[in-house]
Amino acid sequence: MKHMLDWETLLAPYKQAVDELKVKFKGIREQYQKSSRHSPVEFVTARVKPIKSILNKAKQKNIPLEKIEEEIQDIAGLRIMCQFTDDINKVIELLRNRKDFEIVEERDYITNKKPSGYRSYHLVLKYPVQMLEGEKPILVEVQIRTLAMNFWATIEHSLNYKYQGKIPGDIQSRLQRAAEAAFRLDEEMAQIKGEVKEALVVFQDRTDKGNNGSNETSILKR
Ligand code: GTP
Ligand code: MG
Repeated sequence: MKHMLDWETLLAPYKQAVDELKVKFKGIREQYQKSSRHSPVEFVTARVKPIKSILNKAKQKNIPLEKIEEEIQDIAGLRIMCQFTDDINKVIELLRNRKDFEIVEERDYITNKKPSGYRSYHLVLKYPVQMLEGEKPILVEVQIRTLAMNFWATIEHSLNYKYQGKIPGDIQSRLQRAAEAAFRLDEEMAQIKGEVKEALVVFQDRTDKGNNGSNETSILKR
């Protein structure tokens, strides 16, 4: 038998990283909620790439098995879903300011959407996992997207699976139109959020002058 890869040992730090980072990213949401502020993090998902998918990707990209840890960046993957497009910028800023990992790559598929219609902001982190043998830095891919972007990507992903990566042309065009609709939905929501904020400013301005100083505006701040 040729040398076998010990998958359990290889994947253990990835599992550890994914579990830890999920708790940490959910922690961002919890801190916002505790202070009754709008959380830029709506929800977080996390996974370790299944062995079969790792093997498929290595084969597709001609990556030798001894190089998968350096060359496959998404063995550990997390997604952070946001309500609004500008929440994505807030999340990126929060992550850039952290000291528990290093950001080694950023891919902005929001400014530059993919030809498929895909939009998301990708970060690749180098995250140190504490192993018995010492610290092991591993790569983690974080995808940050709005709920609308996630809706689109989820459906497109299932279709890709169904058609084994060869989505028929007419469905591709529909998906591109759906991506446009998702984009417009994000824009509409941003506008609504903007108007609520404006209402808050006007209202606060009035209460400032009219003195009552009550806390009625606080709900709008969220
Ligand atoms: P990979 O070889 O797939 O890693 O491509 P890459 O190295 O250029 O990385 P990229 O930043 O494109 O991220 C790839 C990941 O983003 C995928 O595993 C998907 O989760 C997601 N993704 C990228 N493009 C699409 C797309 O067109 N549709 C969907 N549904 N997801 C996408
Ligand atoms: Mg990648």
